[in-house]
Amino acid sequence: GKGNFRHFMEKELHEHPVVIGDVLHRMIDATTRMPVLPALPFNLARVPRITFSACGSAYYAGLTGKFWLESLSRLPMDADVASEFRYRAPPLPEGGLGLLVSQSGETADTLAALRYMRAEGQKILTILNVPESTMARESDAMLETMAGPEIGVASTKAFTAQLTVMAVFALAVARARGSLADAEIARLCDALLEIPAKAAEILASEAQIRRLAPRIAEAADVLYLGRGACFPIALEGALKLKETSYIHAEGYAAGELKHGPIALIDKSVPVIAICPSGPLFEKTASNLQEVAARGGQVIVFSDAAGAAKLQGIAAETLILPEIDPFAAPILYAIPVQMLAYHVAVMKGTDVDQPRNLAKSVTVE
Ligand code: F6R
Repeated sequence: GKGNFRHFMEKELHEHPVVIGDVLHRMIDATTRMPVLPALPFNLARVPRITFSACGSAYYAGLTGKFWLESLSRLPMDADVASEFRYRAPPLPEGGLGLLVSQSGETADTLAALRYMRAEGQKILTILNVPESTMARESDAMLETMAGPEIGVASTKAFTAQLTVMAVFALAVARARGSLADAEIARLCDALLEIPAKAAEILASEAQIRRLAPRIAEAADVLYLGRGACFPIALEGALKLKETSYIHAEGYAAGELKHGPIALIDKSVPVIAICPSGPLFEKTASNLQEVAARGGQVIVFSDAAGAAKLQGIAAETLILPEIDPFAAPILYAIPVQMLAYHVAVMKGTDVDQPRNLAKSVTVE
């Protein structure tokens, strides 16, 4: 049941700290602070390329993973939405690894992508929440998200569990390939281990997120901006807002704004910036300056240091716990989803069963 919560989506949002903590507990050795994967029937040090495909939020989890994997391990990873992937008939390398991410393990397009990869001679690794699913049966190896049943149609806890598995996987690949020193891998594991407590802090300050909802609920269009590993979190924010509150929203890479979408900006368009402190902060800040200069309402999601730097241009600020940039996308996914939830509640939509949607999309 829903316990004390109004909706399954709300209940599942509140499970983020536990679900993320469970993944970390299973996948990081507490003494060595090193990533641990189950035995795999392929050698991560030898794989020449990863080919990834998924749909919707699961695709965004993989896009974030691509950023981590390529930057930390130097292993190239291709990413396509599953409904497009097989139609471009991509050539896949000998000895390559196919990677699929899915909550249900039944999504028709993702399953078809898996079968294409297998027919092209790839080993198949899946990141799944349902270990009895069709994709699980057709995998060579599986990393389980173990987020528990997700009832709300909009993915919440399964998404942060997918991100967490991807983050640890990227570290494991980096270790297998010797691209990072063990001390650096341990430091990044420590950064991940800080997420559950900080996620709980965010949930405890839910009122700060709810306070932003009226401004979004009255908008006809909302833009989400992010850079690097936070760009897919901007995409996730826009998707979650569209599907739960029926408000038109788009996610953009912050630097892409000036190549067209900036023409949309006026005082009626809220622009939500996912911009934790880190190497990409200053670049995003200058993009936000451009938005503010055109009268856009900038809503900043950052830590105290980042928020202070953007004080002059932000219409609203959500201050989040300070976190290492590596772990930030996982933490920032939480307020992004929670804002969509509160806007949907304010709009009075059917939050757990949005119109026209099904939990598991088994047609192509
Ligand atoms: C968004 C959402 C969908 C799913 C997508 C893939 O909130 O829930 O975009 O992420 O349909 O579903 P799975 O993960 O079951 O393959």
